[in-house]
Order: sequence, then structure tokens, then C-alpha cells
Amino acid sequence: MMTVASGRLIVTIGIIIAGLAIRVDSEKQWWQTTTLYQIYPQSFKDSDGNGLGDLNGITSKLEHLNDMGIETVWLSPFFKSPEVDNGYDVSDYIDVNPKYGTLEDFDNLVARAKELGIKVVLDYVPNHTSTEHEWFKLSEARVAPYTDYYVWHEGILDANGTRRPPNNWLSVFNSGSAWQWSDKRQAYYLHQFEVRQADLNFTNPDVLQETRNILTFWLDRGIAGYRIDSAPYLFEDADFRDEPLSGLDGYTSNDYYYLKHLYTKDLIENYNVIQMWRDHIDNYNSKVNDGLQRAMFTEAYANISMVVLYYDYGSQIPFNFFFIKDKDGVNLDTKVTASDVKNTVDMWMNNMPVNGTANWVIGNHDNSRAATRYGTNRVDSLNFILLLLPGVMTVYNGDEIGMTDTYISWEETQDPQACSTDPDRYQAFSRDPERTPFQWDDSTSAGFSTNSTTFLPVNTNYRTLNLAAQKAADKSYYKNFQAVMRLRNTTVAKNGNLTSFVIKNQIFAFSRELEGHDPLIVVVNWGNTSVQANFDKLLFNDNQRLKVILSNVGSNIEVGSTILRSSITLAPHAALVLTTSSSGFLCSGSMILLQVSCLISVFRSFFNS
Ligand code: NOJ
Repeated sequence: MMTVASGRLIVTIGIIIAGLAIRVDSEKQWWQTTTLYQIYPQSFKDSDGNGLGDLNGITSKLEHLNDMGIETVWLSPFFKSPEVDNGYDVSDYIDVNPKYGTLEDFDNLVARAKELGIKVVLDYVPNHTSTEHEWFKLSEARVAPYTDYYVWHEGILDANGTRRPPNNWLSVFNSGSAWQWSDKRQAYYLHQFEVRQADLNFTNPDVLQETRNILTFWLDRGIAGYRIDSAPYLFEDADFRDEPLSGLDGYTSNDYYYLKHLYTKDLIENYNVIQMWRDHIDNYNSKVNDGLQRAMFTEAYANISMVVLYYDYGSQIPFNFFFIKDKDGVNLDTKVTASDVKNTVDMWMNNMPVNGTANWVIGNHDNSRAATRYGTNRVDSLNFILLLLPGVMTVYNGDEIGMTDTYISWEETQDPQACSTDPDRYQAFSRDPERTPFQWDDSTSAGFSTNSTTFLPVNTNYRTLNLAAQKAADKSYYKNFQAVMRLRNTTVAKNGNLTSFVIKNQIFAFSRELEGHDPLIVVVNWGNTSVQANFDKLLFNDNQRLKVILSNVGSNIEVGSTILRSSITLAPHAALVLTTSSSGFLCSGSMILLQVSCLISVFRSFFNS
């Protein structure tokens, strides 16, 4: 019989051992291994019943996020804004839109997050401001020093006396020319996005200083970093040259992809500004000297070389969107094969700098939801793969429970990118379907709001597809997600070597291995038929039996069972996380408790014998 005292001793040893594991992990900075959970404030949680999400709503859910294992949240814009582009049109960078709360609410959010060990990353939208921003009004009126804060041009006067924009540049939002005439100023201003989102002039040192001031403002309020919006659009060609036709099918002359964007996107000058912000944040870190490395995540849809170049200019995490759109900009969907998955992983790993931190993004507010693109039978596959690959994973709120796109009629459409098209084409452009309220439970408005009318409609599938139901179920996307989040905290998930394979054309598999640690193995049948395969080459050790740590919802393979490595049969869409049979991973629960309880059982059997 083991005594209580010896039990305590064992727990202590267990904690010390668990502590050792944590010390090894802490060699990496938080931003190298974190999961960035993107919260879209409009649709996350409404605290005051007006049908729109808000900051207090987010604060009320932080404990839940903590329980899910989230250590970093990225908040999409909640700043003062006329909300033409859901807050990506800021009219005051250093204040909160009253629709979402107050600065005090923000401070409370950060304070509560800190208590729970959650870091807060903010969205910074540097490329453009709302035309309602004070700077724009003063610039339009030619008031110094704001006169050249924006990209102004008097246009071209034709022989017949008509004036036209300086060139053929098009708005990203498919509304035709990127130039808008101002009667007041008697000049055109550039708007790469919506007409009420005016592009700032990044050649102006005063503008650069303003950007640094904004960064400092929120750093002072306790945030851990920034997601930089629309990084490729900061600079444009100084000679205002026309862009060539893209030659792509299916686009009208008003559509953005009608042209090839040589002179308005991905200019090398953009990178120097990124470096300037990195230096600014680093200086801030040195000044504050509190041990926290504040980080910068950059948003750039571009070719792989231009994306990874952000690493060289100080972005710790240039978002990897290649699990959303392939290298040709085509959405990855149900047609993806195991080789496509491997190629997507390899492309990033082979192109990022040796000291870079890999990262994987599966969804966001700008793209159709992962469960809709890849199919709901792929939710676990994607989460197992992307959460157990090395580096950072970005999760868009709702993807952890497999939320799908919501049908939005033309009349209900709010997204400017779709509103500028027509009732026949808007669905190809609209981002509203992925922005509908979070599905918390099966009550009114899916528990998002007490109001039965919400800013965008709730998906009708909320009665069955919601967090509460998934928490209650024995097995669910959410429970699997939560379990993988625990696995992410292990040393092997943080530091293990990655080896990946395609087996029998339809299985994508990879292992994470580290000397002295149990490996993690992910195997996913990417095909529509059952397949039996030999996984001998998957691991360097020769352990013949593998333990199942996790299996997909609906799988016939039970968690806790062991399977023979040389012959595993995978049903269509099966996804498994495995380890070798000696492993302690199976004593589920939090990894630290897990190691303690495993240790207790080892000692218990020793004392009992
Ligand atoms: C990227 C943001 O993610 C998107 O939602 C927004 O419309 C554009 N930038 C313009 O700010």
C-alpha cells in the first residue's frame, strides 16, 4: 500500500519532471510555438443584446479560451470607424468604436487576459485610413502638415479638357478605378480598397512617425504584438505607370484581377517599413525590459518568395496562407490530394529562412471557412495536421468546432467587395458567409446574442453545430481540438524533427521525433476509399506497435487502442494521431497532470508489487 506521504512525494517528483519538460520548451519564445486565435469582434459574443459582438463579450469568453488551451488572441479591428469594411477603415487609431465598447473595456479585457496567461495581439491597418479620419479631412483641405499624408494626383487633362485618373490602377474591391476625384482638393486620391479607404503616403516621414506613435499607444496598454494588415500595398510605383492586363479569364474591366499588379503591390519599399516597425517594437522591448518579446505577424497574399522575404525584414510570422490558396491563388478545396498537402508543407519548410518559425493558417475572415472549402469530414484532419506541424498555427474563431459558411442573400450582403458586384456574381466575392455569429449553443441566436436579430444572420445549422453540443459529446471536433492543443505543449511538438510522407498516393503522414521523447505521428487518409498501408518508414525507432492518441470524429479506431505499424487500415477521411506504445501520452488530461498521474501509476504498481 502506498501512503499519502509517499503519494505527495511522487506528485512532487512528477511536478519536477514536468517542470523540466517546461524549461526545455521555454527556450523558444512564445511567438514561435503559439496558437494565434483570431477573434472577429463583430461575430464573437454580444454582451449587451444589440446583435453585434463587443469587447465585453470577448472578455466574458476568455476563460473558455483558456480552457481550450489558447494562449494568444488576435483581435480584428475594434477602433473608431464608420465600418465600411468592418473596421478595416479606421477613423481613429487610438480609440475604441463605441459599438464595441470603450478604452476601459479594452483595458479590462487585457487585464483579464493577463490573469489567464493569454496574450493579446492587435490588428494594425497602416495602408489606408477611413476618409472620415481627421488626417484625411485636413489633407483634403491642404492643411499642413497633413497636405501630403495621402496619395494625391491631379490626374491627366485630355486635349478636349476632360480630366481622368493618372493611370489604370484598379481597386481590390472590384469597383473599378482606384482613384477618386475630390472636388474640395481638385485632385484624385488613391484607394486601393474601398473608395472610403484612402491610401496613406508612405514616402512621407510624418506618416511614418504617426505609424510608430500608433504602435506605441497600444503597446503601452499591454498588448503582445501586431498583425499588420495589407502589408503588400503600402507603396506604389513612383512614376504611376499603367499596369498590364492579366489575361485571366472571367474578369471584367472593373475587377481587380483584370490587371497584373506590378506597380501597386509587393514593392520592395514595403519591406523597409516592416523593418522599421520591427526595430520600433524591439526598441520598445529593450526600453520596457520586462522579458516579453512583442511580435509582429504580417498579412501578405503573394508568391512564396515575396511572402518569406518578410522574415528577412523583421516579421517574425509572415502568414502562410498556402493552405487556403495555392501558389496560383486558387482556393484549396475538397479536390486536394495527399501530395498537394505534402507539397504545401514542403514548400513552406523549404523556402523559409533556416532560423524562421514556420506557421500555418487555415481560415480567416477573408476566406470561405475551412470546413466548407475542404469538407466537414476534413475538420479533424486539418486540425491534427496543422496543429502538430512545427511552429505557429492561426485559428479563425469557429473553425475549432467546424463552423461552415452561411448563406447570405444579396439583400443581406454587407461586404464592400461583394456589394460592388451584382446579384449574379456577388457570392464569388462575398466574405460575409464566414463572418456570421459564433455558434455557442442552441438557444436564441446560437447564444451569441439575446437579440434574435443579429448583424449578419446566424447559420441555420446552429441547433446541432454548436460549442455546447460538442462539449457535451463524448467525441467532437472541439474535444479533439482541445486535446491537440494539449499535445502542442509537449517538447516533441515544439521541437521535434519533421519528416513527412505520401503513402499509397492517398495518405499524408508525418512524424515529429526528438531524442529522448515519445514521437508524435499524424496519419490522414486524404482519399475517398479505405486504404491499408505499412507505416514502417514513418519512424526511426523500431517499435512495432503504435498507440492511438486521437482519432477523427466518426472513426472506428478507438483512442487508447494499439495498432500494428506494419498494417494500418484507414477508412475514407480517417485521421489519427499516434505514438509508440511505451508512451505516456495516453494518460490523457493536461500534459503536466498527465505526466504526474502517469508517474503515480508507475510508482503505484511498484509499491503494490
Ligand atoms: C485585409 C483584411 O483582412 C480585409 O478584411 C480588409 O478588407 C483588407 N485588408 C483591407 O483593409
